[in-house]
Amino acid sequence: MCGITGYIGYRDAYPIIINGLQRLEYRGYDSAGLVLYDGNQINLAKTKGKVSDLIERVTNKEGHLGIGHTRWATHGVPNDINSHPHTSQSGNLVIVHNGIIENYDTIKKELINRGYIFHSDTDTEVLINLIEEVQKNNNVKLGKAVQIALNEVVGAYAIAVFDRRNPDEIVVARLGSPIAIGVGKDKKEFFIASDASPFIEYTKDAIYLDDEEMAIIRVGKDVKIRKIKDDSLVDADIQELQMNLEQIEKGGYEHFMLKEIYEQPRAIKDTYRGRLLRDEGIIKMAGVEDNMKKFLNADRIIIVACGTSWHAGLVAEYIFEEFSRIPVEVEYASEFRYRNPIITEKDVVIAISQSGETADTLAAIKLAKEKGAFVFGVCNVVGSSIARESHAGAYTHAGPEIGVASTKAFTTQITVLSLIALRLARAKGTMSSSDYRLHLQELELIPGKVEQALKVNDHVKEIAKEYLLSTNCLYLGRGYNFPVALEGALKLKEISYIHAEGYPAAEMKHGPIALIDDRMPVIVIAINRGHYEKTVSNIQEIKSRSGKIIAVVTEGDTTVKGIADHIIEIPDTEEAFSPLLTTIPLQLLSYHIAVMRNCNVDQPRNLAKSVTVE
Ligand code: G6P
Repeated sequence: MCGITGYIGYRDAYPIIINGLQRLEYRGYDSAGLVLYDGNQINLAKTKGKVSDLIERVTNKEGHLGIGHTRWATHGVPNDINSHPHTSQSGNLVIVHNGIIENYDTIKKELINRGYIFHSDTDTEVLINLIEEVQKNNNVKLGKAVQIALNEVVGAYAIAVFDRRNPDEIVVARLGSPIAIGVGKDKKEFFIASDASPFIEYTKDAIYLDDEEMAIIRVGKDVKIRKIKDDSLVDADIQELQMNLEQIEKGGYEHFMLKEIYEQPRAIKDTYRGRLLRDEGIIKMAGVEDNMKKFLNADRIIIVACGTSWHAGLVAEYIFEEFSRIPVEVEYASEFRYRNPIITEKDVVIAISQSGETADTLAAIKLAKEKGAFVFGVCNVVGSSIARESHAGAYTHAGPEIGVASTKAFTTQITVLSLIALRLARAKGTMSSSDYRLHLQELELIPGKVEQALKVNDHVKEIAKEYLLSTNCLYLGRGYNFPVALEGALKLKEISYIHAEGYPAAEMKHGPIALIDDRMPVIVIAINRGHYEKTVSNIQEIKSRSGKIIAVVTEGDTTVKGIADHIIEIPDTEEAFSPLLTTIPLQLLSYHIAVMRNCNVDQPRNLAKSVTVE
């Protein structure tokens, strides 16, 4: 959580930092701040609120050096004082920080005993004063002081710090939260950011720090990277960025979320391109091929994830068990890691994460690795922590997902997991050749069918008008579409703040049915595959209790049409791939309801895109 950005070079730092913060707002948007060095002094501006509020606060925009921050509060409520940057007591050192210093209280007490006065409630102010104290006591430069201080703290961080007495360098460090360094032409300028999006129009050369590394960035010099613990030098690995500006702009859509919903046909295609070779009847995924033995000898697959990625994991459970007949357990990463799970060397752990930075998922795979399991990462962000920490993996090629509510990440995760399950089914012989070929063919048709499903947009918008004042909503689905019901409910509560619950359709009778009355919209996924008749019976049960039914059905359906208040038709497909289609109208429904309720769709309250705290 929290976004960090910085610049040192020959250009004006202000617009680079402000634009960068706006691109990083998906990481948190409780408050924002920046500091610029204008050649004489530092000018700091910070405020509770969004980057747009910060812009109003900045009076002096001069300077070729600066750092900025957009916050998702951990220690201390969002207010002006707790906002970053924070300065040290002397006013010489300035810091922005993403993460949590767990032993901040002990350090704070010690610093108070030594005469430090604190103004904010943050752990970050403690860290910058600790760095100052180390610097004073040891008479060392900033880099060394940062290193010594970081060896005293417990927690997670990505930081950028500078010393106004030595304004030709910025020091950055990471443990648990990402930091990318953009290297300008001839090293005449450098960019710092939580991900590369703030600087892609300036440079394609980026260095990603690894955990427990710090870097000293000086104009005209090579970036010097060291291990924080033992001071050893690390070679700077400059990577070429694949991202482009268009991918991170709204491209004419009102919101990123809507753009990302509409990008799904392309994203799914990009995800199977080069992997699904229908004519040859094969699936080619290096991460799976190279580790085929691990998969084939696995006693079970454990999927760990959070949020929407966890829902993709639940869909994958059905797919893996049916296609490849491998037992699957799907775990919330946060629960898994704290309950002394039984993990053996014969387990394959699949971590699913859009950002690749979710703290609980990362910790879960570290635990699984310690216990000898083989860890396979399914991430969207290239080079992210989970991708790097995994033994092997497969990226989803969704492109940057900026809307906080995940959409295209979900469908591309299901696509990758389907490919893996099909490949394993082939290797294990658990699926007939004809079925296998049929599924390859069908998966290739999915982007076109998603395109078709998106055509319900206007109709869904009309339905949304009727339900925008609802206070509760129930989502029902069976089998492969039970996780889609959970995901539909999550989307609605995330962005419209309407309470919503997802349930397996048959379980409704064991509780939620008591809630049904004529004010309760019930969204039922009732496609013609799986246990269609049973779902129809559930719809009848809701109807006879006056519930309002919005049903997602296969095109041409006549039975449900006669009972439901609204039907939304989607194309037919194999049941296993149906979540890729049924989820589309549910995404659109939440989107339109949220827009009509005047909610901030891309930046819902209290949420953040990348949850790097436990
Ligand atoms: C946050 C986001 C969700 C996301 C979840 C897991 O809660 O708001 O959209 O599903 O984190 O994130 P990950 O990056 O690991 O998929």
